[in-house]
Amino acid sequence: KKKKATQHALNSVTSRLALTAPCEVSLWDSDEPVPKAELLKSVQGAHGLLCLLTDKIDAEVLDAAGPNLKVISTLSVGFDHLALDEIKKRGIRLGYTPDVLTDATAELTVALLLATARRLPEGVEEVKNGGWSAWKPLWLCGYGLSGSTVGVIGLGRIGMAIAQRLMPFGVKRLLYSGRTAKPHAAEVNGEFVPIDTLVSESDFIVVSCSLTPETQGLCNKAMFSKMKNTAVFINSSRGAVVNQEDLYEALSSGQIAAAGLDVTTPEPLPTNHPLLKLKNCVVLPHIGSATYSTRGVMSVLAAQNLLGGLQGTDMPSELSL
Ligand code: GLV
Ligand code: GLV
Repeated sequence: KKKKATQHALNSVTSRLALTAPCEVSLWDSDEPVPKAELLKSVQGAHGLLCLLTDKIDAEVLDAAGPNLKVISTLSVGFDHLALDEIKKRGIRLGYTPDVLTDATAELTVALLLATARRLPEGVEEVKNGGWSAWKPLWLCGYGLSGSTVGVIGLGRIGMAIAQRLMPFGVKRLLYSGRTAKPHAAEVNGEFVPIDTLVSESDFIVVSCSLTPETQGLCNKAMFSKMKNTAVFINSSRGAVVNQEDLYEALSSGQIAAAGLDVTTPEPLPTNHPLLKLKNCVVLPHIGSATYSTRGVMSVLAAQNLLGGLQGTDMPSELSL
């Protein structure tokens, strides 16, 4: 008997094929996020739900789905959009997409760090608007990685991949903080330090932790005030790890040198947001994992997770709740 699965906003041919064979699929066939009312309606009676990080899966959605729902598969490594306790309580299995997006996200983070530290968007803009009048000794100077100290907040899979990519630039010290010291940190000569030490001693501070109640608003006024005036702050994890008003204050007052953000609150960031008026803030539209091949592999993995959950077999990447 075919099971009913809800899949939406996913235009990957591969995952559609993988899903349609053994399932009856109800698809939100648009790139725009599914409206909540539509989700609440179409999820009714589904055995499986394939969702995106833009879909907040809370008790209301789970109740709308009803007792058929056996598995949720998210096309993301992050799971802060999912009410884990509610999912666990209902005995629903959960799939996500770690590992396959680590390289792409680490690359993007390094690109953002270099673009921010070396002021690439400003330079591009000056070339276009006629601001490029001559080669001038101090014009558009920024900060380099060679000989620097880099601090990674959260040396997990992605944080580690970022560190591995930064070390060859001649980084002198690699500091990291988190709940526990990581054995794999030895590969990058990582020094486990208290977060206060990390923020006060680093030239580059890279946020790569997951968003949890403990990390929500972690990067706030108190933290920015401990940073060097030359510090470059990078976030490619989740916007809510940062208090954006405090970041704006730190950037506009010269408390820190620059920030590069691939994630914000809210997303999308309104075009009139104060952060976008600052030359020393580079904002990207949450594109960490956005390579064609990575999104393709993520789609297949998400489909496999969903099918495993529907069939009651192994899910290639199941989050243990
Ligand atoms: C992207 O932010 C993800 O969680 O996959
Ligand atoms: C830069 O182009 C230099 O020649 O120093």
